[in-house]
Amino acid sequence: MMRILLIHGPNLNLLGRREMAVYGEKTLEEINAAVQDWAEQEGVKVKIVQSNHEGALVDAIGEAADWADGILINPAAYTHTSVAIRDAVAAVGVPAVEVHLSNIHAREEFRHVSLIAPVALGQISGFGTDSYLLGLQALQGHLKQQGTDK
Ligand code: DQA
Repeated sequence: MMRILLIHGPNLNLLGRREMAVYGEKTLEEINAAVQDWAEQEGVKVKIVQSNHEGALVDAIGEAADWADGILINPAAYTHTSVAIRDAVAAVGVPAVEVHLSNIHAREEFRHVSLIAPVALGQISGFGTDSYLLGLQALQGHLKQQGTDK
């Protein structure tokens, strides 16, 4: 069975009451439920981690080397600042797809740069909850093609 680690970065625990005009009205629990519905349908195992702490995210990525076939990551604000998360993704060599609810390229200039994108397979940005589902599809397609099911 294909196994995917889904990482949500800082402040995503506040979805549903955080800048709703930008991030939508769905809570993180609702997004996770949509992800798990997809996973059940596809026969994929998705483990979900949310943390507001950079080190905890680095630890989760490091551990993924032992068990995950792929990583879906919304690094949130750490997208734009974290060399540590980028290095962790590069270090484990587990294929990763970066996702964002909002279109980071249409927002403030400091959000236009992603330190993670260069070490990811690709980036999906701007489709709300669908960014996660599109990211999962892309990751699944890649893993099937590569035959990198662990
Ligand atoms: C975000 C975009 C980031 O710039 C921001 O810091 C977030 C959420 C998104 O999903 O749109 O916290 O990653």
